[in-house]
Amino acid sequence: MPHIIDGKAVSQKIKSEIKAEVDLLKGGAGRVPGLAVVIAGDDPASKIYVKNKISGCAEVGFFSVHKEFDGNVSKSTLIETVSELNADENIDGILVQLPLPKGLNPDEILPFIDVKKDVDGLSAYQQGLLLQGNPDLISCTPNGVIELLKSANIEIAGKNAVVIGRSNMVGKPMAMLLLRENATVTICHSKTKDLKNTVSKADIVVAAIGRARFVTADMIKEGAVVIDVGMNRVDGKLCGDVDYENVKEKAAAITPVPGGVGPMTITMLLKNTLESFKKKNNLL
Ligand code: GUN
Repeated sequence: MPHIIDGKAVSQKIKSEIKAEVDLLKGGAGRVPGLAVVIAGDDPASKIYVKNKISGCAEVGFFSVHKEFDGNVSKSTLIETVSELNADENIDGILVQLPLPKGLNPDEILPFIDVKKDVDGLSAYQQGLLLQGNPDLISCTPNGVIELLKSANIEIAGKNAVVIGRSNMVGKPMAMLLLRENATVTICHSKTKDLKNTVSKADIVVAAIGRARFVTADMIKEGAVVIDVGMNRVDGKLCGDVDYENVKEKAAAITPVPGGVGPMTITMLLKNTLESFKKKNNLL
């Protein structure tokens, strides 16, 4: 049996550490960390994610603001909202939930978020720092993956790591973080030739493609570590990018969906918000 990496347990442990730190620091700062979440439209999955982010804040003792707009909201209203949150002294982190409704281009809105409050780590500034090997606020999902690998005592240095997917939110920052841990990193994507051959040489596979059960057992080396970032709905059921039931027979360690990477994303968001709060209050 492989080691099943329990994202819920790791996440719970980090959240209790965050809560303890908030309790310790709030006296000195005269306030608690604050996170603002902006959502537009009525994508059901996004609504659930946002609800979970807000309840995550309550769990660790953060202040939170939830700005909700319908799908017809204008670009200027969203930019105005972000600008007000930038100026709000009680807010340390701002997140605009993606995807935005049709007709709104995130590249025309996200750059208005103050980079010091970019707890999603999606700005060119934060991603540039990561690229240079000197990160500040790291994209939440890939940062959560590194935490999971470390929690399971999985050696990363010197290993062949293959990331499947090249999004700005997961694939690219994931590759940079693995490189920072001294892995030899390959990024595969939709135009990769003979993906199976590349993946089959990997000691660590991170699947972030967004296609249900895309990674099958025949692609995986015996004893590989398999991290599943996928969140796909199949017949109303949540399902990862990895064919879990078959791949787990070959893997040394694997993350389930749900209960693997998912809980870590919110926890890393809370961690980034705490970091931003500490920096603002000279508590580092
Ligand atoms: N949509 C799905 N995951 C995320 C995330 O981590 N951040 C934002 N802003 N939107 C998302």
